[in-house]
Amino acid sequence: MQEIVENRAVAFKTRKGPNEIIAEKLDLDSCFTDDEIVIKVHAAALNPVDLLVKAYAYSWIAGCEPKTLSRDYSGVIVRRGKNIKEFDIGDKVVGSFDHLFGKEGSLSNYLTLDPKKHPSITKMPSFGDSEYDDFVLNAAWPLVFGTAYMGLGLLDKSQNLGPDSRILVIGASTSVSNALVQIAKNHLKVKSVVGICSKSSFERNKELGFDHLVAYDEEVVTDGVKKLIDTEFNGGKFDLIFDSVGNSDFIPKIDDFLKPISENSYYRTIVGDAKLKYTSPNLLKTFKPSETFRRFGPFKKYNYRNYLLIPSNTFMVLGAEMIAKKQFVPTIDSVFTFEDHTDAFNRLVSNKAKGKIVVKIA
Ligand SMILES: NC(=O)c1ccc[n+]([C@@H]2O[C@H](COP(=O)([O-])OP(=O)(O)OC[C@H]3O[C@@H](n4cnc5c(N)ncnc54)[C@H](OP(=O)(O)O)[C@@H]3O)[C@@H](O)[C@H]2O)c1
Repeated sequence: MQEIVENRAVAFKTRKGPNEIIAEKLDLDSCFTDDEIVIKVHAAALNPVDLLVKAYAYSWIAGCEPKTLSRDYSGVIVRRGKNIKEFDIGDKVVGSFDHLFGKEGSLSNYLTLDPKKHPSITKMPSFGDSEYDDFVLNAAWPLVFGTAYMGLGLLDKSQNLGPDSRILVIGASTSVSNALVQIAKNHLKVKSVVGICSKSSFERNKELGFDHLVAYDEEVVTDGVKKLIDTEFNGGKFDLIFDSVGNSDFIPKIDDFLKPISENSYYRTIVGDAKLKYTSPNLLKTFKPSETFRRFGPFKKYNYRNYLLIPSNTFMVLGAEMIAKKQFVPTIDSVFTFEDHTDAFNRLVSNKAKGKIVVKIA
């Protein structure tokens, strides 16, 4: 017998308009192709990219049709196409659904996807005893874990960081950096990871694995990090500087902080050179054209990458493995109900979240 369900989603029509719950009927038996699965979503997590996507949803690019928000999801497979071999009905899965201005997003009751086209998916690992249920914790990790994985040069294999490496993290409190420090310390066994964050986040970030912290609200961060290089590292510089907030303070004196390019050191950023305003994101303000010649071309002075997450299954496999070995736990800021989606987005816009903001759906 045909099963028709109601599919509700948090969507927006125009960049200045509100996010609202929309609903449509979904025929569960005909809504998928032979290569697709249908997931009943239990939880989804918000990411600042949702704010960016909305800010740039000009009607001449994105139209005025409803666009569903969010990427990270956890849920249960309720239908599968006949060509799907790796998943079964009833499997609990976790992933990140990559889309831009799409009708489908993870803030919805059901998600229909082709796992080959959306490879950031795996069977859901269990966290064991925890304050949060497995669906909440699982929705909280794919996008930030994948971004951290790329930040460590693991996807393109551009760097081989290990016990002799030193990493500087600008923005130690962000969810991406929370994942990065756990991969660096627990998987790669990196000796020293230094983070920059507010003084009030020191205790929390130490518990996550940072070896040293410098407070951006108490001292000039370049002075604080230089002091550490001289006193703790005997003058040794960093193999990687990873920026997850948009701070260009280290750029003018990069040779004082980053090892030479001949030692395959990297400066990687996921935001550019300036802090993105969550209330009115403007990507143009995050580029520093004056650095172009030092960053690109045959005479570049340092390895620089400003990158976007590339969907992949490899980081999902590592994430699930690390969770099973209790080497990685995503940090949760807050959990909201589907109906309270506006409060969830207000929390994201505050830029004060300590960990992921998760919305429970099922
Ligand atoms: N390129 C990509 O593919 C990609 C992927 C994911 C995210 N991103 C971007 O990466 C950024 C971080 O995302 P997220 O979700 O990890 O962040 P988040 O969890 O929302 O970060 C919130 C934290 O940032 C810290 N912070 C705020 N202002 C700061 C400042 N001036 N200096 C240092 N820390 C500051 C705050 O902690 P304290 O002030 O207590 O330290 C706050 O708790 C966002 O801009 C996002 O758009 C890019």
